Amino acid sequence: MIYTSQPINIAGVPVVVDDLTAYATEMYQLYAAHLNSNLNYVKYLQRSRTTRPEFIDRFIRAYECNNEHDAALVKTLQDYIDPLQLVGRSIDPTNAIGGALKDYQYMRRDWCGIPVNEEQIELIEKPLRDILQHEAFKRQPERSLFIGAGVGRIAHDFCQDFTEVYATDKSFSMAWNYHRLAHAPIVFYDISNKNLLSLDKTAPQFTANFTPPPAGKHLEYFVSDVIHLPIESESLDVLYSVYFSDVIPLKLLFPQVDRVIREGGLFIHFGPLDYFFEEPTELLTAEEIVQYFEDRGYQTIANETVRTVHLEKENILSNKIYDNWFFAAVKMPKQAIAAPAEVLSPTTVLSIKGALRFSQEYRLTDEGEEMVDTKLLLGEGNDFEGAGAMLIILRLIDGQRSIEAILVELKESYDLPATEDGKILQHLKALVDLEVLAIV
Ligand SMILES: C[S@@+](CC[C@H](N)C(=O)[O-])C[C@H]1O[C@@H](n2cnc3c(N)ncnc32)[C@H](O)[C@@H]1O
Repeated sequence: MIYTSQPINIAGVPVVVDDLTAYATEMYQLYAAHLNSNLNYVKYLQRSRTTRPEFIDRFIRAYECNNEHDAALVKTLQDYIDPLQLVGRSIDPTNAIGGALKDYQYMRRDWCGIPVNEEQIELIEKPLRDILQHEAFKRQPERSLFIGAGVGRIAHDFCQDFTEVYATDKSFSMAWNYHRLAHAPIVFYDISNKNLLSLDKTAPQFTANFTPPPAGKHLEYFVSDVIHLPIESESLDVLYSVYFSDVIPLKLLFPQVDRVIREGGLFIHFGPLDYFFEEPTELLTAEEIVQYFEDRGYQTIANETVRTVHLEKENILSNKIYDNWFFAAVKMPKQAIAAPAEVLSPTTVLSIKGALRFSQEYRLTDEGEEMVDTKLLLGEGNDFEGAGAMLIILRLIDGQRSIEAILVELKESYDLPATEDGKILQHLKALVDLEVLAIV
């Protein structure tokens, strides 16, 4: 088992979260609101059917079918929630799982055998598979994880390439639909109300069919929040982030990714950078992401774009073209990372020049208070974000103790692997170069 805590089974779906009730309640609220809004919409359609009845009837039939699935989903979660947690709580509009279920769009692409969608899947999977042959990736492809895995098709297809394949998503419905499909086909409608050439293209019906994995293979699909990835450290050879790296800020994603990938393992991103959030300091370009990884000990082995029509629907007049960014980087073994500059050695003693200024940003919601970022304010565009760990180290600098003594103290107080020493020396050297620290 690679989980850090015991999965809890809800309707066949392993759920690995810190607080099951809070999680189930959050999901329940989203899905129940979505269902309620669609049930009301059906009532509205029924009242409107005096005009365009043929069009309206197609919609009613489609919503009624999908609503049945959504009602079953809400019912499944009902036993796990705490109704008191729902009192007075409004839905967070920035919740990345979203009130509107995207499951049907992904189910249509992934499990309905539609030729244009199969073409998109082929275009996505080819680079993800080919990169495993890259000479810089020397590991046996034993274990991989797909984060934000949707209804699971891409992860599922990679069962043939690895000994073990894991997939995770925070959305209960995505994981639930994958598990349901393994037992029986799902009939659903894909609803578009505009960009239609003719009435018969309105809300077509589809049947999603599962293709079993090769004999002896199995996709372990569990629910979790990638921000608190419940996976043992250094347990993966490859981590795939397909249409996901733009869902949560890199400063939250990277620490998890870096923790779970083994030395010599691969991080692979595929998809646009169509960020789901607005914070301008987090809307990184591909170039900045490459730099971010390289600064933290990764070697880039793929950096290119692949054009696809995203979730293509043949029945509508408007489809989206993505120039998907395909990025792959190997986590370099620590000893292979360039040694920090010669001026800093473990025996060097440092002092702080003048006063250092920090700012800390907190986020307060009705779920409580959470520190979002610590910034070291250096001015002139040199501010250090994500400086929480740096602050801990800087507090120990006193113009008397050597770096070695500080590292020993850090290791005693924190679970800091020796492999981090090089990185810390590099950061300290950068602060010496910026004349924030002085060598005594
Ligand atoms: C754009 S979809 C991509 C789906 C899938 N990778 C694919 O390409 O078919 C993003 C997925 O990320 C999931 N997600 C959002 N926030 C998440 C989080 N914090 N942890 C895990 N999954 C999350 C959503 O539920 C959604 O299924």
